[in-house]
Amino acid sequence: HRHLLGIEGLSAEDILILLDRAEGAVEVSRQIEKKRTTLRGRTLINLFFESSTRTQSSFELAGKRLGADVMNMSVQTSSVKKGETLIDTAATLNAMRPDIIVVRHAQAGAAHLLARKVDCSVVNAGDGAHEHPTQALLDALTIRRNKGRIEGLTVAICGDILHSRVARSNIILLSTLGARVRVVGPSTLMPAGIERMGVESFRDMKSGLAGADIVMMLRLQRERMNGGFVPSSREYFRFFGLDAEKLGYARKDALVMHPGPMNRGVEIDSNIADGPRSLIREQVEMGVAVRMAVLAALAEHLPNE
Ligand code: CP
Repeated sequence: HRHLLGIEGLSAEDILILLDRAEGAVEVSRQIEKKRTTLRGRTLINLFFESSTRTQSSFELAGKRLGADVMNMSVQTSSVKKGETLIDTAATLNAMRPDIIVVRHAQAGAAHLLARKVDCSVVNAGDGAHEHPTQALLDALTIRRNKGRIEGLTVAICGDILHSRVARSNIILLSTLGARVRVVGPSTLMPAGIERMGVESFRDMKSGLAGADIVMMLRLQRERMNGGFVPSSREYFRFFGLDAEKLGYARKDALVMHPGPMNRGVEIDSNIADGPRSLIREQVEMGVAVRMAVLAALAEHLPNE
């Protein structure tokens, strides 16, 4: 593969190769002095049209730890603010001959469009409510490190499924690797026909979490609810916020995940987010290793200089 645009289209073997590579990168990702040379002489551009803390910084660190020159395009102070389009911005950056562009954009399909317009590799760092492939890979790596497997596990993805690219990428990846995937949330935040993705869908936490090995909480994406139904935080927390009582519905050894950013007291209680069953910090740590694995895999397909 020359690009990583989504989990859709990857085989179980493709995914397992990336997870094994990422596992091998965990130690190196922790030690900056063990910097590798896989991407020496290569240029990586981070092009984020939507805000990010985790994804952008971990792609920057991953690129640097592999020896690449990393440029963070500051969209807020770029000519995008003067009306330049995604495609014209891409063409401008393309003329500077980068090797890899990592792009995040509010429109679904933006990464695919960009990949058709530039000569370099493109990595999707989140396109609207469509896909966020490296998030799903780091979630899978975190699950595998803690549960020893993915196949046969029951994973409950809870909350705003409708607006979530993380949910979509995780549903595809986890199903491909043989997990049973459930989605849990109010009907107003559930895409019509979600069952066609091979998931079971639930409208309440008690039945949705029963027997779950992994409880993955999602943020209410208010920025994507333009004109639609917006639940109040208090009411949402009462019915769908993960607290000790609701976590009690899941298996006794169930672990809790959240891709971040979290809204404490809305979809998750602080005691759970910071508690012994939370994998949230490990997810962030695995983000660097997974992005190193993805960049190194793409580097094998870059033309020689
Ligand atoms: N999980 C995630 O994509 O976080 P950021 O928006 O901070 O990158």
